[in-house]
Amino acid sequence: MKIAICSDHAGVEYKQKLINWLEKKGYEMINFGTDSTESMDYPDVAHPLAEAVEKGEADCGIALCGTGDGMAITLNKHQGIRAGLAWGTEIGRLVKAHNNANVLVMPARFISYRMAQQIVMKWLETDFEGGRHQRRIDKIPIR
Ligand code: RB5
Repeated sequence: MKIAICSDHAGVEYKQKLINWLEKKGYEMINFGTDSTESMDYPDVAHPLAEAVEKGEADCGIALCGTGDGMAITLNKHQGIRAGLAWGTEIGRLVKAHNNANVLVMPARFISYRMAQQIVMKWLETDFEGGRHQRRIDKIPIR
């Protein structure tokens, strides 16, 4: 499975650790940056990641910034993206089971790295439930 990943300066430390950890688990990681702790603008990495997921170059994505909100707001401008913000494992499960989020967004400044790992694992191992949730997802695009 190919996972695209991006962060701004606030999430870069967790991003790098997640890349190393997930690669050891056998996932192919596509890193969209940033790779520096210098202040940068999250849309500069969020848009390229969203495009890669929309084109099928990656199966899904992970994005981190300070609050997660900047990433989620930017990613969700893309019609093919359902970016879900999760700060706990139950939300990580529900954002896949109910919302079929194809990008997981986490608030690096508000969770521990251990929590970030647990959220990622829960999101990856959870299946979308379909049914009434598919009906709701079908109503998301602007008509
Ligand atoms: C960076 O200081 C911070 O604004 C950013 O990481 C994020 O929280 C924005 O939504």
